[in-house]
Amino acid sequence: MSEHFDALVVGGGIAGLSFALKFARFGRVAVLTKRQRWEGSTNYAQGGIASVLAGDDTFESHVEDTLTAGAGLCRRDAVELCVRHGPERIRELVALGARFSRGPGDDFDLGREGGHARRRIVHAQDLTGREVERALLSACDGEQGRIAFFEHHAAVDLIRADRRGGRCAGAYVLDKRRGEVQTFLAPVTVLASGGSGKVYLYTTNPDVSTGDGVAMAWRAGATVANMEFMQFHPTCLFHPQARNFLISEALRGEGGVLRLRSGETFMERFHPLRELAPRDIVARAIDAELKRTGDDCVTLDMTHLPRPFLMERFPNIYATCREHGIDMAAQPIPVVPAAHYQCGGVATDLAGRTDLPGLLAVGEVACTGLHGANRLASNSLLEGLVFAHEAVEAAREASSVPPGEAPDWDPGKAVDSDEQVVVSHNWDEIRRLMWNYVGIVRTDKRLARARRRLELLREEIRGYYWDHRLTADLVELRNIAEVAWLVVESASQRRESRGLHYTLDCPRLAPVAAETRLKKPPKA
Ligand code: FAD
Ligand code: SIN
Repeated sequence: MSEHFDALVVGGGIAGLSFALKFARFGRVAVLTKRQRWEGSTNYAQGGIASVLAGDDTFESHVEDTLTAGAGLCRRDAVELCVRHGPERIRELVALGARFSRGPGDDFDLGREGGHARRRIVHAQDLTGREVERALLSACDGEQGRIAFFEHHAAVDLIRADRRGGRCAGAYVLDKRRGEVQTFLAPVTVLASGGSGKVYLYTTNPDVSTGDGVAMAWRAGATVANMEFMQFHPTCLFHPQARNFLISEALRGEGGVLRLRSGETFMERFHPLRELAPRDIVARAIDAELKRTGDDCVTLDMTHLPRPFLMERFPNIYATCREHGIDMAAQPIPVVPAAHYQCGGVATDLAGRTDLPGLLAVGEVACTGLHGANRLASNSLLEGLVFAHEAVEAAREASSVPPGEAPDWDPGKAVDSDEQVVVSHNWDEIRRLMWNYVGIVRTDKRLARARRRLELLREEIRGYYWDHRLTADLVELRNIAEVAWLVVESASQRRESRGLHYTLDCPRLAPVAAETRLKKPPKA
């Protein structure tokens, strides 16, 4: 049996919900989420949303900062679009009920982050994402049944209706609670499935960020771009009991100082902007210092600020540090870099269209050209908002073509798995090898080693995948293996160091900046 909708949205973060909310005026929308509907990176975003809202700020300055961070690889039209439409999209969020922190005179209290020449980060203390997600979900609930949520439903593969001109016609979806695969048909499918931090052993990302959208789009034949540019956030809490907890860049925006374990500062040796240099530079500097000193972490010192200010401005970080025995008002916070953001993704135009008709991509899963080789801090929530809006018109055009029918999922001779340990072992191996060989600093030798191992693992996973009944873990394992391979392949093709891709074998910048674009060859 199949479910029919006017649009199928894979993901319930800022991108998926913003799109669903706007498209609901024109048709019925299904929103799939792998876990509870609020669970995704959006919900954990701390720093805020970058946009030109201060009287002394200009679009030109935000454009310039984005292009500089992007190291020559941003698409200028994507940057202009995003920056110029940002303020309007943020006002819409406020109109939906999002409550952002205000300063004197009821103006937004604007934060500062690395690579920004001005204070331009709209935030809700240090819980910006939670507030945005809350406001969007509550607005979706007001849509009187035009938006249907399917929680704990994982899209497994896109459906290509080849007899209808190779269009995407929806997706096969695993109902995780019932263990059944259902067919969702729609004339337009929107990937809004977020990033792929879980491909790495250490990440700030929640568990749902396993790169499913990129893997599904790739398997369906869409072009994937710039996957080598994985952004490592410089400051993730270093504590044995803290999993994934980010220490926001906004702390450095308030004067936080990075120190070695010995107390010595070091950023002055790496960049004139010191702690507020673009993220790739700060993460690389920390990596180099950890290797040089043999220490297991560096520290971020906030002790110059009064306790009441820290408690009011960063309540979540303050409380979480406290839970782990760290008093940030009195002692430096131990931090390490961790995989944070996928700058590449499914290649799209400025309206979210991929090169597979009927398939759009918005948010972190997409490569719009905004981020180039390195995303500027707090430009991601902005991108989700702006491009979801732009995609609505493209989706309306695509939704005029009926999706047609598709056969139901065929489980073949698959049997229940009796060796779950194989899945968890392979998960661990991929994440560890990506961390060790395809991390902040790369070499040809390390990439070649990662590729060899990944090719064997992919082969093994493929066999296992078709022989066993689908589980959520198996779906994700197949996807992280695919995405890891795409990162390695893209990294191997780039014969230079640019932005987030740094290799000891080609340390210089090539004279011409070019995107890495990969497309699966059609079946013979
Ligand atoms: P997400 O919010 O990640 O949502 C993805 C959705 O897709 C989820 O609902 C998930 O369940 C669903 N999904 C995934 N795969 C499937 C599947 N197979 N089937 C069904 N559903 C699926 N950016 C900023 O601009 N400012 C910040 O301050 C900031 N802070 C951050 C802090 C943290 C800790 C993290 C991790 C990221 C931060 N980022 C920040 C980045 C930003 O939060 C994300 O890039 C952005 O929220 C992505 O939004 P999204 O809608 O694309 O995806
Ligand atoms: C942060 O708060 O440091 C995260 C901001 C971002 O990823 O853009």
